[in-house]
Amino acid sequence: MSRKNYILMGCMLLMFIVVSCTQKAPQNESSSDTEVNYIALGDSISLAAQQGLMKQLMMAMESGGPEYAVNFCSERAIPITDSLSNKYECEIKRVALRNRNPDNAVTTEDKVVYDDFAEGLASGSALQPQVVEQEKAMLFYKPIVLGMPACLKCHGKPDDLDPNALTAIQSRYPNDKAVDFSLGELRGMWRITFSKQ
Ligand code: HEC
Repeated sequence: MSRKNYILMGCMLLMFIVVSCTQKAPQNESSSDTEVNYIALGDSISLAAQQGLMKQLMMAMESGGPEYAVNFCSERAIPITDSLSNKYECEIKRVALRNRNPDNAVTTEDKVVYDDFAEGLASGSALQPQVVEQEKAMLFYKPIVLGMPACLKCHGKPDDLDPNALTAIQSRYPNDKAVDFSLGELRGMWRITFSKQ
């Protein structure tokens, strides 16, 4: 399949997912005490966010190459997830142990789930999203496994990294820890925070 078709398919998928999420989002029926299915909700929101980011990333790579995409992503990655956060009244973040953006570092609590995903991946078990209940919030986590060779241009080992992208990365993120990854490794997690009413 050509890259154009791939992008087109991605866009169509995104539209479908955004539509289906809207339908699944909990209604504000104050009388209803039906328990929210945070796994299903988190799953569809993170999927929509992932597709949104992926679409922008592919378009940026296509139009300006990896170096342009680094600068584009660094300006757009957070706004894209923020706009979805507003739409679903939750906080959507990607967090990582070896993070690029200092704002995406794991907290002590995130680290517990991260370690669990890392162990699961190492032992070859299928990773399932997790929900952690806090006093005032429900935290949804979903692993992000590095699954596409294209990711390696900006997150891979020296031989896989795109040299121009690397220069752009180093100047924007002087404390970058998000290189040296291989395909199939745990790159990070989606973390969606729903506040409890
Ligand atoms: C063109 C370069 C580029 C490519 C290709 C790329 N990324 Fe990134 N990635 C970035 C940049 C830049 C950031 C920091 C974004 C920000 O400032 O929020 C980032 C951040 C992330 C984060 C958030 C955690 C962190 O370290 O800040 C994850 C997770 C991630 N990328 C996964 C992936 C995956 C999976 C792929 C392949 C589908 C991919 N990336 C492809 C440049 C890239």
